[in-house]
Amino acid sequence: MIRAMATTNPVPRFPDGFLWGVSTSAHQIEGAVDTREPSVWDVFTAEPGRVRDGSTAAVACDHVHRHAEDVALLAGLGVDAYRFSVSWPRVRAEGGLDFYDRLVDELCAAGVRPVPTLFHWDLPAGLDWLERSTAERFAEYAAEVAGRLGDRVQKWITLNEPAEHTLLGHALGVHAPGRKLLFDALPVAHHQLLAHGLAVRALRAAGAGDIGIANSHGPAWPASREEADVAAADFYDLLLNRLFADPLLLGRYPEDVGELMPGDVGADLEVIAEPLDWYGINYYAPTGVGAPRDTGTDFGGVRIPAGLPFSLREIEGHPVTDFGWPVVPQALTEILTTFRARYGDRLPPVVITENGCAYEGLDDRDRIAYLDGHLRALHRAVEAGVDVRGYFVWSLMDNFEWAEGYSRRFGLVHVDFGTQERTPKASYAWFRDLLREQRRA
Ligand code: NOJ
Repeated sequence: MIRAMATTNPVPRFPDGFLWGVSTSAHQIEGAVDTREPSVWDVFTAEPGRVRDGSTAAVACDHVHRHAEDVALLAGLGVDAYRFSVSWPRVRAEGGLDFYDRLVDELCAAGVRPVPTLFHWDLPAGLDWLERSTAERFAEYAAEVAGRLGDRVQKWITLNEPAEHTLLGHALGVHAPGRKLLFDALPVAHHQLLAHGLAVRALRAAGAGDIGIANSHGPAWPASREEADVAAADFYDLLLNRLFADPLLLGRYPEDVGELMPGDVGADLEVIAEPLDWYGINYYAPTGVGAPRDTGTDFGGVRIPAGLPFSLREIEGHPVTDFGWPVVPQALTEILTTFRARYGDRLPPVVITENGCAYEGLDDRDRIAYLDGHLRALHRAVEAGVDVRGYFVWSLMDNFEWAEGYSRRFGLVHVDFGTQERTPKASYAWFRDLLREQRRA
């Protein structure tokens, strides 16, 4: 195994009880497609041209057959917790919960707390977030999972990044189910948020507690101080941040957007605003935003068509990851202090449910530098008074990166997708040593 670089200036100590973990999701690692029902992602990836390298997640990391080895990697890393997702299409198959039952047992035996996410984009094929009834089906499914795993699971996540699932999957068509509805996609956001609120109630009714959501947030930086750029960035902030945080934390949609939601959403907002025990934030990078351009813009594989009230712009002066995303740790401090200022005491304790970067190589010094920088930035947010209770690296291992296929490697562990061999990278050793250091009395 590669040794980590010696740390001369250790990452500052996080508060006692801070939860350290790593994250994955079902569709991105599980494989074993033949033992579950199909999801919208299976349908989407079967269509030519949808995924950069033409791949699918039929095998992915073959985690369903290699879970014991993967749990051993988690134990070796020394994390407190493992965030994985439960595949709704697998739960619908005969005996589908058996796999998670075993996984949770193995995690508990290894001293790693299981933190399941109930929806990480792999909607069962045949269901549709444009339909309100999908929210009700989701709550029933949440209750079923809690009934089976609730005796050992103490921390729950309802949804992962409903913003991306709405924007990339239903508005722009670069993720499953591949719809290009632009603003007509907004009911998809509402129905997911409603699903979240109904699931919170269903989980609590089943005796589960400590419930959060994993929302993707980050600052939208205007390309210049020109009024048109500032207005465009403000609009993007609304779409990515306020549209998904306001209903959860304030019980209302931001002005202007409410009217685009399906029907009278007043009663739904009470369900959506069901108090959370904690608030999960997935953070990767700030977004550069400018006034619309006649031709639209491309950024990081995402095409923003002409006709939307913003365009995406490069952020100059920072290193970029293999994805082209700028590495800007201070933007993590910024989004957290912005949230604290915006929501005040309505913001429950925060957990960083994802943070990470795509780089090639086993000696992944760039990843170490990224994680080191972001942990220092997170600590600055703690010092500034944000109540942060945990941090999860995305991801335990290289996996199926959605429309990018296997071409983007986010793992602390390298996966050879030909042989399925797992090899810890330098960043794995670095994170393991950091956790030991943090726990030293
Ligand atoms: C957020 C998503 O939740 C996850 O599935 C994805 O792999 C990472 N971002 C990296 O793009």
